[in-house]
Parts: sequence; structure tokens; C-alpha cells
Amino acid sequence: MDETNGKSPVSACAFTPGERSLPPEVEEELKRKVAAAEHPREMAVDVMYALQNHYGYFSDTALTHACDILGMTHVELEELATFYDYIYREPVGKYVIHVCDGVVCYLRHDDAFFRALCETLGVGLGETTADRLFTILPTACIGDCHKAPSMLINGVFYGPVTPEMVPGIIADLRKRAEEDIEVMCR
Ligand code: FES
Repeated sequence: MDETNGKSPVSACAFTPGERSLPPEVEEELKRKVAAAEHPREMAVDVMYALQNHYGYFSDTALTHACDILGMTHVELEELATFYDYIYREPVGKYVIHVCDGVVCYLRHDDAFFRALCETLGVGLGETTADRLFTILPTACIGDCHKAPSMLINGVFYGPVTPEMVPGIIADLRKRAEEDIEVMCR
């Protein structure tokens, strides 16, 4: 078993999403953008992303804020949030791994890629590691078919990825997270 399997010296509380109040300047900026749009709906996804970035995921608090800012109902925004794979209604890890389960990728890895990820992290698809560093989310085509099999981690594409490459990629991200903590503690 890989030495990084589900374990990390990083404090478990380091990435616990907080319900910090939204700074007034952030709220004002979002309201300004919504007011400038032809219809508030055009800005719905941008507002949801901005609030998700602030809260760590699109929490109920974030949803309520988004409703206030956009003048839309909970139901309308809930429908949008559950439609988009990149809006997270549940807490996620610091690194969200969108592993492609589209046809092109699947034909090239035949499950081996998924197994390598799950074995390296010690969690199943759709789950988050106990240290809250990684969440694996199977996602329909991530738009990187020419580099299949591919995955997207916090906006960065990795592909083509072999099962053998997975432990090294995870170890690098773990190291980066530890360095972030060191910087925060200085
Ligand atoms: S099918 Fe995997 S990126 Fe398109």
C-alpha cells in the first residue's frame, strides 16, 4: 500500500470549511456585478462560485447569501447548484479531483485509473479523505479528451494519466498542502 494512503501529518482541522461571515466589500462587489447584468440569472453561477470559494463549499449559508444577492429563490438556485458538477453542496477536500468517467477516458483506462486513485487515497468515488485534503468526484467528460484518461484537480488538467502516475501526483499535492500550512503558521 502506498505510504500516502489516507494519512497526512497535516492537521485534520486545517481545511475544515468555516462559516465565516461574508466581508461587506465582497458582497458589494457581487451586487454591483449583478446590477450591471441584463438579468441577475446571468450572474448566478459566478455568484455561486464566488460564495463557494469563500465558504469552502456552497453551504446553506452561501445559498441564502446567493438568494439575497441575486433576488432568486432557494429552489431556483438549488436546481442550478445540483445541475453543475463544480458547485459543491457538501463539504469537500482542499483538492477536489474530478476524475473523468466520460466514454473516451473510460475506454482508455478500463477502471484501473479509478482503482489507483481510490487505493492511493483510501476512499471511494464521491468520498473525502479523513484529513479533508482530497475529494474524488467522478465527472462526465471534463473537456480534455485528447489527453485521455484525464482528471481535473482544482482547475488543473492532468492527462494522460496512468494508474502508476497516481501515487506521485497525490504525494506532490500532499507536500504542497503541508507547505501551505507551514506558510500559514509563520
Ligand atoms: S471523455 Fe474524458 S475528457 Fe472527455
